[in-house]
Amino acid sequence: MSNNSVFINNIWKNGDGAHFQSLNPANNEVVFSANGASAAQVEAAVNAAHKAQKSWAKIGRDARIAIMNNYAEELKKRADEIAITISKDTGKPLWETKTEAATMVGKIAISTRAYNERTGAFSKVTAFGELALDHAPYGVMAVLGPFNFPGHLPNGHIVPALLAGNTIVFKPSELAPAIANIMADSFAAAGVPEGVVNVVHGGRETGAALLASNLNGVLFTGSATTGTYIHKLFGGRPEVVLALEMGGNNPLIIWEPCEIEAAADMIIHSSFITTGQRCSCARRIILPTGKFGDAVLEAVIAKSQKMRIGTFDDKDEPFIGPIIHQNMAQNYLKFEQSLIAKGGKPIMAAKILDKGPAFVAPALIDMTNAHEREDEELFAPFAQVFRVDNFDTAIERANDTKFGLSSGLVCDDASLWHRALGEMHAGLINWNRPTTGASGELPFGGPGLSGNGRPSAFYAADYCSYPVAQQNAIMAQRLKAIGLE
Ligand code: NAD
Ligand code: SIN
Repeated sequence: MSNNSVFINNIWKNGDGAHFQSLNPANNEVVFSANGASAAQVEAAVNAAHKAQKSWAKIGRDARIAIMNNYAEELKKRADEIAITISKDTGKPLWETKTEAATMVGKIAISTRAYNERTGAFSKVTAFGELALDHAPYGVMAVLGPFNFPGHLPNGHIVPALLAGNTIVFKPSELAPAIANIMADSFAAAGVPEGVVNVVHGGRETGAALLASNLNGVLFTGSATTGTYIHKLFGGRPEVVLALEMGGNNPLIIWEPCEIEAAADMIIHSSFITTGQRCSCARRIILPTGKFGDAVLEAVIAKSQKMRIGTFDDKDEPFIGPIIHQNMAQNYLKFEQSLIAKGGKPIMAAKILDKGPAFVAPALIDMTNAHEREDEELFAPFAQVFRVDNFDTAIERANDTKFGLSSGLVCDDASLWHRALGEMHAGLINWNRPTTGASGELPFGGPGLSGNGRPSAFYAADYCSYPVAQQNAIMAQRLKAIGLE
């Protein structure tokens, strides 16, 4: 695999920008090392994307769908390589990166269906002439991706944008860049023409150069901090489409009646999967006061003690790997300290494991009696616990956030589920399912600081093209001429 860092007109080049490297967080081995794209190279990539855009739009729906199907085949052929590459860059276990590779392939069929269903074409003849609807691409889209699903999430913007006839300049996360080169090579092998997909690697300065360039849209997945910054940067520029998919401070309510072991499993799969590095992870666990809530927490403690945490290629495959970087492990420790200072009482203490400086233990802290609340997303296996006396307070507590991405209720009582569905403020509301594991067949996004109201996944088609309404008088004249009007 090429470690070059600029892919323009289907050709890899060395970057002229600042040097950067990504490390395997399990052992600090260098996975990717290159010079990033310079501002001039970013500009060249954006120019190439503009040059290629008209002809890419002109080849039509069917041709683009066929090329995207070829891309799916290329990804399929390289599925094992994709999984290992992402595991090395992120530390995620192979069971998870194999799923990511399969999800990237699955994205093509789902996006094609969404493209046709949500942004299709129709025409009808009326007494006043022909009415028709079609959709047109915006032009050149910048795609900025996060590290946690470095293949799947950018792919979830790129594929719908390409299907709609846009061209792309993609800046992958500098923390997990390697998969982008496999994607670029796979697009080229699939027959994507020169200039249609361009990759510019690098850190913040490469991202800044991209945002300063001549763009028609920015498709971003990442933190609320960066998303808000981008929103401000493009303030007063409605001509640039922004689709901002940001984080969450997601609540999970566990309520009686429900099976205690199953409830504990839901917490583990909501809060600690992917080492807590999913935007959909439950960060706040809301439980009733009393014996039932105590028993659920005891079960979570017991399961966490047995949790396999390790390196992606360990013989006994781990449930979770290390956190993305040892600096993030330090942030997780500091976060616990700041919550303790606000009155939190650790239930499972945050700690770095002997395996290495990026290996952290799942942590829980009781914030029920804290004198100050903390409504920030910590991207780590760490959840705040709140004990409440009744279901009204549980819902109130769940909604007590400026975010609104994912949420859940674990409880066997269907009437409580219907209340939760009507009263919880989030884009995803799950019942007896973890808050994680979003379906590509549904939209993904939510209110508040979780985005700017342009949900992704099945609805990504919506922000990749605009509707063109046509009223065709020629048809009316033709009908008149043949005596039908
Ligand atoms: P991040 O915001 O730090 O970075 C995302 C991308 O933006 C990276 O490519 C980065 O280089 C770039 N970037 C950052 N600052 C920039 C700047 N000032 N100018 C230009 N580019 C800049 O996010 P991350 O740490 O990689 O990912 C984790 C975050 O992503 C979490 O907050 C998580 O909740 C969120 N996330 C959201 C979703 C979703 O669909 N809503 C999915 C996954 C992750
Ligand atoms: C994420 O995008 O970070 C996770 C989504 C999921 O849990 O499926």
